[in-house]
Amino acid sequence: MSTTRASKSKVSIVGAGSVGTAVAYACLIRGSADSLALFDPNTAKVRAEVLDLNHGTQFAPACRIDGADDPAVTAGSDLIVVTAGAKQKPGQSRLELAAANVRLAQELTPALLALSPDAVVLFVSNPVDVVTYAAIRATDAPGGRILGSGTVLDSGRLRFLVAQHVGIAVENVHALIVGEHGDSEITLWSSATVGGVPATEYRDENGVAVFDAAVRERISTQVVRSAYEIIQGKGATNLAIGLSTARIVEAVLRDQHRVLPVSTLQRGVHGVEGVCLSLPTIVDGRGADRVLEIPLAPDEADGLRASAQTLREVQRSLGL
Ligand code: 2OP
Repeated sequence: MSTTRASKSKVSIVGAGSVGTAVAYACLIRGSADSLALFDPNTAKVRAEVLDLNHGTQFAPACRIDGADDPAVTAGSDLIVVTAGAKQKPGQSRLELAAANVRLAQELTPALLALSPDAVVLFVSNPVDVVTYAAIRATDAPGGRILGSGTVLDSGRLRFLVAQHVGIAVENVHALIVGEHGDSEITLWSSATVGGVPATEYRDENGVAVFDAAVRERISTQVVRSAYEIIQGKGATNLAIGLSTARIVEAVLRDQHRVLPVSTLQRGVHGVEGVCLSLPTIVDGRGADRVLEIPLAPDEADGLRASAQTLREVQRSLGL
């Protein structure tokens, strides 16, 4: 099931469901890694997904693709993306998945690191912040080596909505969602910019302030509701999480020192510690490095603390 090309950077993807295969596909077409390995206990599924991906390799950058129903296929990985676990049902919150997916992370992480002692482990399974925290607590991996996809996707959703609202390329919009990847996440309007202009000062061609309180509230709500809306319509989100995860994969494999709002164990920035949540973080070859203390408006700081408290209560309810 695999080509014979030499493999250098290896990314393994645990879980060949809709998210795992979207991550694999995104990494393939972006040329994120030299080799991909999918692990899923469902033999038929993982075999079929690997075949389907391999049949497209002629049309994408060179990449060796393997897969198996045995975790041994992940051995020697530079980075392991974990997408396995129950997924949200229509109307279900991410936090309601916590108990099952935390248990899975606690069992899987030590076994995966035994096969790939130097790997960075990137969790995508939800609730990603609590799952990442549980995985960190289940191993003694050095700080930063275990992280979560966090609000990279949410920040992409925010940037799309802001860009669409003003008719400017999304590349020229910089805006962050921080906190929980979930209902308590916070939009940082105070640091958002459109073409370098602070969003709160951005005016249209008639000189009218565009992002008034009502527009900011509407867009922030749309971001939080995005996943629910997509799950209601197609049963799961997968394409954008695949692409946003590939962006994190590249920041690690290429040691890019890229600032991304990934979920990491917080150690005091903005007074938050003892939980995993997202703040702008330097992502490099060793995983999550320094968290940047981005200035927050008072309401944003309050929201971040409330988000941390929400996560702490879930952790406590699970005995973490
Ligand atoms: C998302 O936000 C479901 O967490 C996933 O698309």
